[in-house]
Amino acid sequence: KSPFKNAAVLSDSYSEASELADIEWDNLGFGLLPTDYMYMMKCSQGGNFSKGELQRFGNIELNPSAGVLNYGQGLFEGLKAYRKEDGNILLFRPEENALRMRQGAERMCMPAPTVDQFVEAVKETVLANKRWVPPPGKGSLYIRPLLMGSGAVLGLAPAPEYTFLIYVSPVGNYFKEGVAPINLIVEHELHRATPGGTGGVKTIGNYAAVLKAQSAAKAKGYSDVLYLDCVHKKYLEEVSSCNIFVVKGNVISTPAIKGTILPGITRKSIIDVARSQGFQVEERFVPVDELLDADEVFCTGTAVVVSPVGSITYKGKRVPYGVDGFGAVAQQLYSVLTRLQMGLIDDKMNWTVE
Ligand code: COI
Repeated sequence: KSPFKNAAVLSDSYSEASELADIEWDNLGFGLLPTDYMYMMKCSQGGNFSKGELQRFGNIELNPSAGVLNYGQGLFEGLKAYRKEDGNILLFRPEENALRMRQGAERMCMPAPTVDQFVEAVKETVLANKRWVPPPGKGSLYIRPLLMGSGAVLGLAPAPEYTFLIYVSPVGNYFKEGVAPINLIVEHELHRATPGGTGGVKTIGNYAAVLKAQSAAKAKGYSDVLYLDCVHKKYLEEVSSCNIFVVKGNVISTPAIKGTILPGITRKSIIDVARSQGFQVEERFVPVDELLDADEVFCTGTAVVVSPVGSITYKGKRVPYGVDGFGAVAQQLYSVLTRLQMGLIDDKMNWTVE
């Protein structure tokens, strides 16, 4: 069901940007709602990005031979903006996304915006679409920066031109379960990443590669798939769209970043928050067998925030967690992180940007 009350009416000027869009704010899921403006900036191979501009949100034109369409030369990022009670809008650690995009661009042979260009472009895009930032407590504005080889290339090589684009969409919960725990299945055949591959950067192909296992899992009633490492086939890696944490007593373990795991910004933030709350956090190889006697399991990501895992099915055995899947540790960390992101508690770490 579309939450739009009047989808045809879009503001044509910034003057309406201070009002809230006329949609059912209570029904937000994680789907695209077209907003007013997107940001575009181009540069040639070997050059630097210079001046970008906002333009009306809409389809873009690409040469059929564009590097991104033919050879997957593309990266994306994800971050969120929250509206505070006082009307101000907060971004969460946008410079971390900028740095991650720069690291990914290096791996994918692409030029990338500087951290300042990235953060400035994000701010401009959010402000131009201000009326789409949900009211406090109703969700957030999901910001999706893209970097792609937009120039035409037929022989395999880096594209001659690159486009940096940002679009946004108001979102609510990522999983259809809402805030309820998700149910995962461990995948034994297919793998998400290989050592020396691109699993550690946010390239678009990583996400196409998980669709097959994810679709099969969803058809069987699971929320998503938990991947294992492809060498030993016994260590946890990550879920299709998020990182994973395993809780045992006061110890919270998560797979170490070693090239096959996406270095999540929520992952990194939760590690710091957990330590500040007195937990011992270990980044290491986490054998899949540890799932069998874990107290709690949860996932982290920009889109999923902190999602409790209600059960994991491993080799045909369903292992349940927490009380009805709602683990106390995940609840506590979710609460601290989201209150920080929404500006409800003191941001001692300086993670939020107005
Ligand atoms: C995010 O959490 O922002 C992501 O990029 C995951 C995506 C598959 C929704």
